[in-house]
Amino acid sequence: MSTPISKRAQAISPFHVMDILAQAKTLQARGHDIIHMEVGEPDFETPRPIIEAGIKALEQARTHYTPALGFPELRQAIADCYQTHYNVKVSAERIIVTPGASGALLLAMGALLDNGRKVMLADPGYPCNRHFARFVEGEVNAVPVTAESHYQLNAKHVEDYWDAETSLALVASPSNPTGTVLTKSELAALSAAVKKEQGTLIVDEIYHGLTYDGFDAPTALAVDDKAFVINSFSKFFGMTGWRLGWLVVPEGYTEVMDRLAQNLYLAAPTMSQYAALAAFETSTLNILEERRHILEHRRDALMPALEQVGFKFAVKPQGAFYLYADCSALLNEQLPDSMALSRYLLKEAGVAITPGLDFGNFEAEKHCRFAYTTSEERLLEAADRIGRLLRRHSVTGYGRCEADE
Ligand SMILES: Cc1ncc(COP(=O)(O)O)c(C=O)c1O
Repeated sequence: MSTPISKRAQAISPFHVMDILAQAKTLQARGHDIIHMEVGEPDFETPRPIIEAGIKALEQARTHYTPALGFPELRQAIADCYQTHYNVKVSAERIIVTPGASGALLLAMGALLDNGRKVMLADPGYPCNRHFARFVEGEVNAVPVTAESHYQLNAKHVEDYWDAETSLALVASPSNPTGTVLTKSELAALSAAVKKEQGTLIVDEIYHGLTYDGFDAPTALAVDDKAFVINSFSKFFGMTGWRLGWLVVPEGYTEVMDRLAQNLYLAAPTMSQYAALAAFETSTLNILEERRHILEHRRDALMPALEQVGFKFAVKPQGAFYLYADCSALLNEQLPDSMALSRYLLKEAGVAITPGLDFGNFEAEKHCRFAYTTSEERLLEAADRIGRLLRRHSVTGYGRCEADE
């Protein structure tokens, strides 16, 4: 008899990009040069001061559990960062250190979403959110968003789509996959609309720090001290592999999060927590500022290069490191959707991107996501390869390729 797998686990689908990744590996093993633009993490390594603090922690044998809510000095350092950076007062008591933003999402959904209740999300949006909802036996109220609202949920969406089962709204600003940012007044209006429905707002601020054109993303805590705010050391601080993030909860919610954290994962990694203390040092912040400039440069180089080969952008993203491109002008009978196009670009041009289907259903077939997480030179080479491929095939027609066999 085979071992049964829970319905909950069966309902969690793999990302379509895994298919692209597997093919990329096959092609790489055959000696093809693949340009990776599907990966949601920057190519930079963790800043040296953080690595050194991590090494020091290990040398000092900081290898035991910390309290489930996190090591107190780190909770205080995160609280201080709200004061310094956003001029918002948050007590360390309200900071819960987690294993990445993923751990924070699990705590927030686990504590706030009841069986059968719905969380309102933007479609397109970060794919794991709907799976977290499913995992805690909740449902999703997916709202199609367009360039008109900068691909973000707004107060009007809440008014139009909130229903009796919906109890939460979750937004990410800057967003994955669109890189768009909510302004302070948009956040305030969203928060008021959610409160009017007696709902709770969760804001994922994981891409904070990575904003461009002189724009600084406001924290939701500046307009709503009842919001749950998620953040992470993964993206801006370049610590994806250290698995460290945090959740800011309103007064009165620390105890429930403590209980959940104790039971779900005991504590975030100790060595990473010590290392992260160095994340707020000036030497680290200077390195991160340089990287932010590099990312901005990449965005400014890649966007026009992709436009030249036929992709369209309804908005210029102000944050994160993604471009959400409309590829409808490149589709045809042989390449009917963004999944087919993604496979084709990988096989024929050696360029790996993420098809829109990974981020939801709404117009997913005509969108794809480019991550500018590799050097500008490689990004431009990718655009050039795509351009040459499409020109060639506009003359010869689309053909089969090696990886099809
Ligand atoms: C919007 C968003 N939230 C959360 C996460 C999870 O990040 P981590 O668990 O590495 O902090 C990601 C990762 O890509 C993301 O894009």
